[in-house]
Amino acid sequence: MANLALVGLGPVGLTTAVAFAAQGHRVTAVDIDAERSAQVARGEVPFYEKGLEAALRKVLKQRRLVVARRMEDAVRPSSVMFLCVGTPPRPDGSMDDGPLRDAAKMLAAAWGDGRPRTVVVKSTVLPGTTESVVQPILESAEVPFHLAVNPEFLREGRALEDALRPDRIVLGVDGSATARILRNLFHSAKCPILVTTLRTAESVKHATNAFLAAKVSLANELANLCDGFGVEYDTVLQGLALDPRINPKFLVPGVGFGGSCFSKDVHALIAAGTKKGYRPQLLEAVLEVNDRQFLRAIAPLEEELGSLAGRRIALLGLAFKGGTDDVRESRAVPIARELMNRGATVVGYDPAAMNGFAKVVPEVHLAKSIEEALKGADGCILQADWPIFSRLTAKDFLAGMAQPVVVDGRRILDRKKMNGIRFHRIG
Ligand code: UDX
Repeated sequence: MANLALVGLGPVGLTTAVAFAAQGHRVTAVDIDAERSAQVARGEVPFYEKGLEAALRKVLKQRRLVVARRMEDAVRPSSVMFLCVGTPPRPDGSMDDGPLRDAAKMLAAAWGDGRPRTVVVKSTVLPGTTESVVQPILESAEVPFHLAVNPEFLREGRALEDALRPDRIVLGVDGSATARILRNLFHSAKCPILVTTLRTAESVKHATNAFLAAKVSLANELANLCDGFGVEYDTVLQGLALDPRINPKFLVPGVGFGGSCFSKDVHALIAAGTKKGYRPQLLEAVLEVNDRQFLRAIAPLEEELGSLAGRRIALLGLAFKGGTDDVRESRAVPIARELMNRGATVVGYDPAAMNGFAKVVPEVHLAKSIEEALKGADGCILQADWPIFSRLTAKDFLAGMAQPVVVDGRRILDRKKMNGIRFHRIG
């Protein structure tokens, strides 16, 4: 078992720390946010992630995970250190490497002895970043280091499961010694491990998110076309899936993708590619389709109700998807704003994301339950795929709504149970 350090206690860092500790490693985690660190040290997860808090408490109790106040206390005992800090977008869409730079500098300054250690970049960074940002910092600090990139593929809501049982591991390394160290660390993993160069590993992460985002936008485009032709998308997808070259996963149409990764990473890739002299037009289109897709949920309301001025619309699901409290890039934000622009009153409900959403769109009224949100509503848009929403039937909508007009923006309601209401979905 190894001594590991984790820098950054965001969703990726904390989940990774808990997963390593649960696998028996000794992990010391550190974050520049003292309040967040204290919270984690008390066994509280600062965001909603199923199963993570119980797992955190367990590893804290076992002392397999320790939260350090100072970087030195995380670095000194460790042989492998993971950088899990954010890489937020700048206003022009490019990637801000500032937090990564700062974390690398702090880590190098805390080294303290001549022991060789492996620094692993887990943050999502553009191809070439580890070599151009992290490597020079470690070199100029004259510390003996191995350098690696290990992108995360954690889905929010299933992050711990993904960290404990990954379906693939990608390791970018600066040489065969580093490859050995990391292969050893992941020796119990029962999945394919791809060992490659630093910048190729960084590229795999961006390529994966670009591909998945493109799949969702393609599904949305096909569904929009199906609507024009009067064709059922589900059956088209069934037909697509019969082609062994087409994987039907991630082809669910709806109101578009949200979340912290897809939009940010595709924007960053476009900005970086364009700077290098290649404009990725297909990726630009992926974002364009996504940016206007939410309007497809509003159009059926207007068709059914006429002007939305003075109408009361229930918005179920404020997080960017079910299973999380994350509202970053949530499609609920443009939906709510557009409905209000058109004069409607919006009443929102979400099992976990109400506080976060209220900070972004404070004008939205928040209901305490699904029933309260639906009460007196002239229309309803279902925006996030929480399981609790998927169990709704026509009876639930008829019970409280003034006019039972429902748009399923995530394709989770059972159409067979919608008799008696004016039910719409995209595609
Ligand atoms: C994503 C990647 O899946 C993960 O591997 C990566 O490391 C981080 O980004 P996450 O942001 O948690 O994970 O969300 P994901 O489950 O991928 O969904 C992203 C968005 O796409 C959601 O808004 C979801 O509702 C939407 N989506 C997904 C669709 O609209 N249709 C689909 O078929 C799948």
